[in-house]
Amino acid sequence: MGLPPRLALERVAGDPVARRALGVLGDALRRSRFTGADPAGAPDAASGALWALASGAPADRTGCAAALGDALVDLEGAGVVVPWEVETGPLPAGRCRLRGQILPMRSVLTFLDELHPEPESDIVYVGADSIALLRAVWQAGGTGRRAADLGTGQGLLAAALATRYDHVVATDLAPRCVAAAALVPALNPHLAARCSVVRADVAGGLCPRAFDLVVANAPWVPEVPDDAVGDRRRFAAGGPTGFELPRRFLDGAAALLAQGGRAFVACTDLEFDDGRAPLRSHLPALTAAGVDVEVRSTLLDGGEILAWAQQRAPGVVVADHVIVTLRRP
Ligand SMILES: C[S@@+](CC[C@H](N)C(=O)[O-])C[C@H]1O[C@@H](n2cnc3c(N)ncnc32)[C@H](O)[C@@H]1O
Repeated sequence: MGLPPRLALERVAGDPVARRALGVLGDALRRSRFTGADPAGAPDAASGALWALASGAPADRTGCAAALGDALVDLEGAGVVVPWEVETGPLPAGRCRLRGQILPMRSVLTFLDELHPEPESDIVYVGADSIALLRAVWQAGGTGRRAADLGTGQGLLAAALATRYDHVVATDLAPRCVAAAALVPALNPHLAARCSVVRADVAGGLCPRAFDLVVANAPWVPEVPDDAVGDRRRFAAGGPTGFELPRRFLDGAAALLAQGGRAFVACTDLEFDDGRAPLRSHLPALTAAGVDVEVRSTLLDGGEILAWAQQRAPGVVVADHVIVTLRRP
């Protein structure tokens, strides 16, 4: 038996019936206070089935139907819920599975694509660096009118920001990421009017000097995107020194900031044995663009990051994962 195809996320994102069903799923998860905890701790059997489904585990279909009604049939019709698992094939009778996971942040839910053994393109990404950026942005506080999340991936930061800013625009270049992020307003009907997702190259098409907050977790691994593997490394490949793409995200973020606005851009601060330090060398250009700049280490595992960098970029001697904060006075 061949592998079942990947979920057609772009089709789901554009299907009003599937979007409405995802809204029903999101509301049911919020009502049952889904936190991502073990389904055994759910308040009742139907919630337990729903929590298992949302975690991407095989779930009891009768319980899911009790919690979701016709929306379950609509999710099955859209291929979002299926009776099989990628690894093991068909599930036992009466079980079903979501082709991904729902990541909860209190009342806000996002969709993380399932790991498919043969992704032909566009990995939808969330990792320790995403969480480090979210934490830094959250700790800094702040509310405002407009926020932007550049290179949004599955839309985690954009979803969180929609609870604090009147409107959030999320961009990504990868069609699969745009589709995953477009499920944020579907899963969170209460935020739908506050969050838009567009396919754009970095900040292309967004209005300069109009944003109170800009966040970006730029691809930062020293690596050139390779046409031979399609778009599969787009989430990671930051260019030959790992800074070519972060530079564009930093410049794009600076250009978007309104007076008093702040940007948080995650990337790596690399030093080479010939003295090159691409991020540090670019800081004067950012200052010249009229923003105050601060660089802080996130203290993510430096040893591992250095090893990755050295494998890919000869001559790297220091690699620190950092968040660059920009502020337009
Ligand atoms: C490291 S991932 C971060 C994803 C998400 N923001 C997070 O923190 O979990 C980088 C993201 O940038 C996107 N990306 C890569 N090149 C881009 C470009 N030129 N313009 C916009 N997005 C891009 C990738 O598709 C990927 O979703």
